[in-house]
Amino acid sequence: MGGLLIRGGTLALPGGVTLGDVLIEGEVITHVGAGIARAEAAQVVDAAGLLVLPGLIDPHVHLREPGGTHKEDLTSGTAAALAGGFTAVLAMPNTSPPLTDRETFAQAARRVEEKALCDVGLFAGATADNSAEVATLREAVGLKLYMGSSTGNLLVDKLEDQLAHFGTYPRELPLAVHAEDAEAVTWFESHSRGRPVLCAALGLARALSLAGHYRRRLHVCHVTTGRELALIRAAREMGVRVTCEATPHHLFLATADAERLGPLGRVNPPLRSPADAAALRAGLREVDCIATDHAPHTLEEKRGPHPPAGLPGLETALPLLLTAVARRDLSLREVTRLMAEGPARVFGLAHKGRIAPGCDGDIVLVDPAAKWIIGERAFLTRCGWSPFAGQEVQGRVERVFVRGRLAYDEGRVLLPPGSGRLLRPTTHTAATTAAAPAPNIDP
Ligand code: NCD
Ligand code: ZN
Ligand code: ZN
Ligand code: ZN
Repeated sequence: MGGLLIRGGTLALPGGVTLGDVLIEGEVITHVGAGIARAEAAQVVDAAGLLVLPGLIDPHVHLREPGGTHKEDLTSGTAAALAGGFTAVLAMPNTSPPLTDRETFAQAARRVEEKALCDVGLFAGATADNSAEVATLREAVGLKLYMGSSTGNLLVDKLEDQLAHFGTYPRELPLAVHAEDAEAVTWFESHSRGRPVLCAALGLARALSLAGHYRRRLHVCHVTTGRELALIRAAREMGVRVTCEATPHHLFLATADAERLGPLGRVNPPLRSPADAAALRAGLREVDCIATDHAPHTLEEKRGPHPPAGLPGLETALPLLLTAVARRDLSLREVTRLMAEGPARVFGLAHKGRIAPGCDGDIVLVDPAAKWIIGERAFLTRCGWSPFAGQEVQGRVERVFVRGRLAYDEGRVLLPPGSGRLLRPTTHTAATTAAAPAPNIDP
């Protein structure tokens, strides 16, 4: 018979939170319910007192391979993912070389199959002249376009080139933008005034207008303020098809933390005011996904003369959100919507993100009562630090199953590199070439 039975846990199901059992046969969930017969399973895991969550999906990570493997690689980055309760991550293309053509993309896809510990999807990267090529890279989970510069040298700041990508990339597939306006970023940074909210507002207004013009899908990376949420709401009301994500650092850190952390708190977009962070938390119902924007840099780099922007986040996101649940600021239902169902829906991963028959056997067992201090257990990310170090959190990842196999158990990774698979989008591929209304209609 075979099968893995996870018994008597508190299941976070799409319909609500309930006590019950989950049976996984092979790689797939086959039964969810109360009192599944023990005889059906070869292996039984007692989950009494534990939360049973769907494997989390992080739609925005930087795994630094190729070209930055002193910071992270596909194995260390996916180990950090498992430790954080993620069974799938979507990796950004700002590597060296960046994933901007068929050959580098195919090579990165092969490396995923050799080195990853959990499932990994890859974004293709937009450049000034690759709109035709990336539009046919159907193994990508989406296209990433940097409207303003961030870490790495991917940048598409000219209107002409932005028009080419927004107009050419399949309109049913997510075009993900780093929406800080290039000209604004350059001006403010050259006047040592950082990257104020205006940079994000200008970039976002432009991205939403372009998406409306071409009637195409848009995914907005790392939204940081209520003002951005208001722009997105207005665009949605005009029929623009836009989804968005927020990061734990923009939800739970603010300007005072940036001052305390110095270069360790440097990130694009920057940490905002406490009022902005509060507005972002208050607006979470309009947000589709939590994304960590896991962007590891070494402590040496961060403390050097030119600290790069970016923060690691894979190992801290779920504990931070569960701590908000323990404080009754958020429901568990919202956590799984934002960290599993939402990313699966936005990126067309129909077989992931839910505990339901037919879905992959990706399961996280969490002790909801465990209180611990971030940093007391060694980080699995190669960069080895966290901007949240020293903070007490409630809720700890105990075990993680990837497609039915125990991949992580209390700090230890149990599967070899290569256990992860390349994730290809499943749900929107069919819709991609369907007849769509003509472009050139402004909202
Ligand atoms: C990211 C990185 O380091 O790759 N840095 C960051 O500050 N967020 C790039 C990005 O997502 O903008
Ligand atoms: Zn069965
Ligand atoms: Zn970015
Ligand atoms: Zn990023």
